[in-house]
Amino acid sequence: MTQYVEIIFEKKSYKLPVIVGSEGEKAIDTTKLRQLTGLITLDPGFASTGTCISSITFADGEKGILRYRGIPIEQLADHSSFIETAYLLINGILPTLKEIRHFSDMLNKESLVPEDMLSFFQNVPRTSHPMGVLSSMVNTLRNFYPELDTTTEEINRAVTLFLSKIQTLAAMSYNISQGHDIVYPLADLSYCANFLNMMFNSQQRPYQINEAAVNALNIFWILHADHEQNCSTSTVRIVGSGKVNLYAAISAGISALWGPLHGGANLAVIEMLSGILQSGNTAARVVERAKDKKDPFRLAGFGHRVYKTYDPRAKIMKKTCEELLAQMNFKDPLFDLAEELEEIALNDDYFIEQNLYPNIDFYSGIILRALGIPVNMFTVMFAIGRLPGWIAQWKESLDSPDSRLMRPRQIYNGTAETKYTPIDKR
Ligand code: CMC
Repeated sequence: MTQYVEIIFEKKSYKLPVIVGSEGEKAIDTTKLRQLTGLITLDPGFASTGTCISSITFADGEKGILRYRGIPIEQLADHSSFIETAYLLINGILPTLKEIRHFSDMLNKESLVPEDMLSFFQNVPRTSHPMGVLSSMVNTLRNFYPELDTTTEEINRAVTLFLSKIQTLAAMSYNISQGHDIVYPLADLSYCANFLNMMFNSQQRPYQINEAAVNALNIFWILHADHEQNCSTSTVRIVGSGKVNLYAAISAGISALWGPLHGGANLAVIEMLSGILQSGNTAARVVERAKDKKDPFRLAGFGHRVYKTYDPRAKIMKKTCEELLAQMNFKDPLFDLAEELEEIALNDDYFIEQNLYPNIDFYSGIILRALGIPVNMFTVMFAIGRLPGWIAQWKESLDSPDSRLMRPRQIYNGTAETKYTPIDKR
């Protein structure tokens, strides 16, 4: 039986239906609110606003639950591969053996990047940030594959093309920025091994595939693969709602991810930890500073809009980080410092009251450091991981019968109607 919320406004009563999700979460359907009452809802930051109904990812921030298509993130991290998880997110079900083999073959076939594109990007300034380069490269891809966004078959090819080429583009942007030779993808390497090889192989020093590194990267990307309506995913959906092509929507998502409050937090954590070590500051003093309301400083990698308990991804990330450092016999002082900061923050009244726990980014940068990924590539690594989620959400919004141009409203608080003043009278 449908439940309703009653709104009484200017002595009139209005009933708005309550929508219930498959996990029991509830929302007031305000679609008709303005039409009925003349009112809009105001929610800067969208903390109480749902923008869509989605069957891709379920996150319960109070209980620390994250599931892709119903499967707990812990099980995917233990048993799945990034490619299988990408298939799951995009197609809605786990692939059969035949399907995953076909998917892998398609990814292999699409892994090369047009040579013209290479020469184009060889001329960007060496100091360019790889996130900016990646976002431009993704948009530029459409010029090479303009036909791929109309029929289902074309869209499916664009999806595999994207998943495959993004890692080639990312490694290429790094090699270009370093003035290194481009390393091409190899058909007999797995997705994660291929990426590491493209990043680190050189004629002088052939890269030895390290299974511990491949496994950690696989988990890193699985944990980043989707996170419902976060800033960059909402960007992809909003941009996509104007019916732009997939390339433009993903390029916008990459730009949205760049910021330090979102995907850039993994880099901010490493800068914070390195800064503490270099300055001789203590973890306790840094936690004190993060609590000071007069100081804009925040503890990077802590807090989350959705999670009011330990981020389930951070738990897996920390364990993966510990295992990787042990397997690589790599003692990273940043890891010890991160653990110390976590211990102090989790026992601090302010952090307890505000429900601030480590998020996915708190330990992820230490994994990337151990893998040898340069810091300016950290957010690019997040972007590669988030790609399946962006694609799945873009496809879902495209196919949804409720899909409309996303166009929020506002409350205007500027100057009331004013006469134009000629320039000589101002
Ligand atoms: N350190 C100190 N205080 C904090 C922190 C922090 N990391 N995070 C939140 N707070 C405080 C904040 O000052 C506010 O206090 P008050 O209500 O007294 O003004 C309160 O906690 C609530 O914070 P908020 O900014 O209103 O919460 P939000 O949901 O808008 O922000 C956040 C979420 C992730 C932007 C924020 O926690 C933050 O800035 N964290 C650091 C950056 C970070 O780690 N970002 C990565 C997020 S996970 C990856 C992703 O999803 O992209």
